[in-house]
Amino acid sequence: MENAPNILVTGGAGFIGSHTVVSLMQQGYNPVIVDDFRNSEKRVLKGIEKITGKRPIVHEVDVVNKESMRSIFEQYTFEGIIHFAAYKAVGESVQEPLKYYRNNLVSLMNCIELCEEFGVKNFVFSSSCTVYGEPDGIVVKETTPVKPASSPYGQTKQISEQMLKDAIASKSDLRVLCLRYFNPIGAHESSSIGELPLGIPSNLVPYVTQTAIGKLPQLTVFGDDYDTPDGSCIRDYIHVMDLAEAHIFGLRWLTHQDDNTYQIVNAGTGVGVSVLEIIHTFEKVSNAKLNWTIGPRREGDVSQIYADPKLAEDLLGWKTKRSLEESLRDAWNWEQKLANEE
Ligand code: UD1
Repeated sequence: MENAPNILVTGGAGFIGSHTVVSLMQQGYNPVIVDDFRNSEKRVLKGIEKITGKRPIVHEVDVVNKESMRSIFEQYTFEGIIHFAAYKAVGESVQEPLKYYRNNLVSLMNCIELCEEFGVKNFVFSSSCTVYGEPDGIVVKETTPVKPASSPYGQTKQISEQMLKDAIASKSDLRVLCLRYFNPIGAHESSSIGELPLGIPSNLVPYVTQTAIGKLPQLTVFGDDYDTPDGSCIRDYIHVMDLAEAHIFGLRWLTHQDDNTYQIVNAGTGVGVSVLEIIHTFEKVSNAKLNWTIGPRREGDVSQIYADPKLAEDLLGWKTKRSLEESLRDAWNWEQKLANEE
């Protein structure tokens, strides 16, 4: 589209990134993806094209490489940036912390510095509810105190938020929105794009769908002795398209703010769901029988956390629209589509 505002989307071929690219295109933006496909697959581009009718622009670049990134900033005038590109595996971050610090922090520094150098003001950052650690309450507001991170991955999200906050304190012209994601699940309704975990998934829902399709033998529920109604952990599962749309509302909000703005917003549904409820709801919507068992707790898991989504609605005018059933149905449709392709 002529005159569509350019938005730089780092990590735009990833799970949340690709769904956000679809939303951006459908809302009249021109996303420019930067992704080196280390944790994503090129077929996602075909899926995006199938949904939107247009092949997205992609630059195969590592965001940690500042000179390559500068050449992209030289080619476009960006109205804003959505910075997704980062590692996110909690367990791996404990094994290889430096890999996480270098990748997640240097890439952010490059984005901040280049945005300042090129006058790109609107900055959406992918943060995580992991910054709340084990919260004192179960429902977390943006004002809920941040707790010590339980993994280097969590540390990188806390340090990243701090880095952006310090940039604002130093009178940067940036307008920053940190979206603290809860647990994104599901896939685009069309099953043209979805989650593509590398190797054995560590997240619950891809583990569930891969078990149901027969790729994995059995799902283990990590603990049934938590202080929750059914003993399993509680999380706030959000449909990835709802989360994608939060970025569009966030960008629009940012463009109306004064320079030198810093804002944190939770991106969740406000509903807590247990692991056992995920299993039962999945079996209902898929008509599939899941092979599962109870195992020990997983180290580092918080027992329960979900979002207070009020600020997102009051400030950005955004709230989730899709149900847990739809999320699990879309995740299942996507898994079946992958199985048919193989
Ligand atoms: C965590 C982080 C989140 C991060 C995400 C990235 C927290 C609170 N959240 O999400 O910020 O972005 O990892 O991967 O730190 N479960 C099982 N069996 C399984 C897999 C998971 O029972 O095989 C359970 C877990 O114990 C947990 C729930 O399912 O209660 C969700 O787990 P998961 O999908 O891994 O996400 P989080 O750990 O909540």
